[in-house]
Amino acid sequence: MAMNDTGSGKPGIGLIGLGTMGGALALNIAEKGFPIAVWNRTASVTTEFHAEAGPLAERIVPTATLADLVAAIAPPRAIILMVPAGPAVDDQLAALSPLLGPDDLVIDAGNANFHDTNRRQAAGLPFRFLGMGVSGGEEGARHGPAIMAGGEAADWARMAPVLQAIAAKAEDGTPCADHMGPAGAGHFVKAVHNGIEYADMQMIAETYGIMRDGLGMGATGIGQCFARWNEGVLRSYLVEISAAVSLARDPVGGGPLLDIIVDAAGQKGTGRWTAIEAQNLAAPIPVIEAAVMARNVSARRAERAAGEALYGRAAGKAVDVTPDDLEAALIAGKILCYAQGFAMISAAGKEFSWALDLPAIARVWRAGCIIRSAMLNDMAGALAEDPARNLILAPFFADHLRRSLPGLRRVVSAGALHGLALPALAAGLAWFDMMRTARGTANMIQAQRDFFGLHGFERLDGVKAPHGPWANDT
Ligand code: 6PG
Repeated sequence: MAMNDTGSGKPGIGLIGLGTMGGALALNIAEKGFPIAVWNRTASVTTEFHAEAGPLAERIVPTATLADLVAAIAPPRAIILMVPAGPAVDDQLAALSPLLGPDDLVIDAGNANFHDTNRRQAAGLPFRFLGMGVSGGEEGARHGPAIMAGGEAADWARMAPVLQAIAAKAEDGTPCADHMGPAGAGHFVKAVHNGIEYADMQMIAETYGIMRDGLGMGATGIGQCFARWNEGVLRSYLVEISAAVSLARDPVGGGPLLDIIVDAAGQKGTGRWTAIEAQNLAAPIPVIEAAVMARNVSARRAERAAGEALYGRAAGKAVDVTPDDLEAALIAGKILCYAQGFAMISAAGKEFSWALDLPAIARVWRAGCIIRSAMLNDMAGALAEDPARNLILAPFFADHLRRSLPGLRRVVSAGALHGLALPALAAGLAWFDMMRTARGTANMIQAQRDFFGLHGFERLDGVKAPHGPWANDT
């Protein structure tokens, strides 16, 4: 049955939760020609939402109770949940359970932890269930988000016409909405997206810090730099908005707005989930981990102030790097970060027996989402050549890295010398240097482990040594 004509005069879709994201998503769905019933726990929110929907109001059915919502939708129903991740989702699923039938479908479109989505899928809910990552903020939800769905393929197929209609479109016209895999696969991919979001933002902030504290540039000059970078390889939403925020003026004092914003980053937790999951998977994502760490350190303002009072301010204004070096550092850092992120997705696919399609994930991220960028198109191409190959080994990105790594090295070295912290960029470089070193240093670790733990070790000639001998072994 078509979602835009259920034959009953009733909508085929409903939405619960008319907060910023839910309201924007409902308007987007209505605008694309799909009638939709809506409900919010606070009734006045629903009434106001409908009253302010303009011409779209005729495709929107406001309802006063959850039972009214269910009654307003033609079965088999599809109900999108847009409520805060966590217990609110479980509460809503419990409230819907007595009201829905086995062919009805509930879609959790919030930022759920994918373990929760797995648990809910496995819990034997009395209706069908999809977990769906939605990216792009309010603007994306209203005019075209990127959508990462997880659950049964048949449930995805049922919703695909609506979700692909409301999703952002890549430059080649492909909708940025796809089925990632079973159970929590959609929310897992969204979590990695958010980890990369944290890392992209952190690396941009690090280049900003060198421009501000190492090169003595003002916010306007920095904004112009970001705007220039946005014309090249780094073309992306996050670089674009970094230019915009750098150029904005403070309506109170008149100076650059960026200069009066408190330097403590908030977080809702999805980046942390990615870092935790990477540890569970033994998947190295040091750039993302560094970005999560940096947010946590940023929040410790009083301790940082005490540190500066004790050790003095490290920042100088004579760092020997150029804006071109910084652009190169950001290009290299971005490639290294995404190479880690995609390798983590690959590891999760193996661990959870999910057939995750890496090129399809890169394609979904090309538009609509916060990490959208020109580079993702090239990543989709490189992953399509060989999804099992790390991106740093793909010839296209190896060429980029050869060109940009000298800049990254200069920037990271300068930061270390002058005391300007570059945790994400430095973590990317260290990972790269390990990844391009055939004979590493873990032979020392193995020897130490054997010395105190009798773990044995493998010799380069292939022979397994049961133990030592070590000179001081007792
Ligand atoms: C998106 C974002 C979004 C996320 C915010 C806040 O893809 O649209 O990832 O889902 O909730 O960016 O994240 P933090 O508060 O953790 O920074």
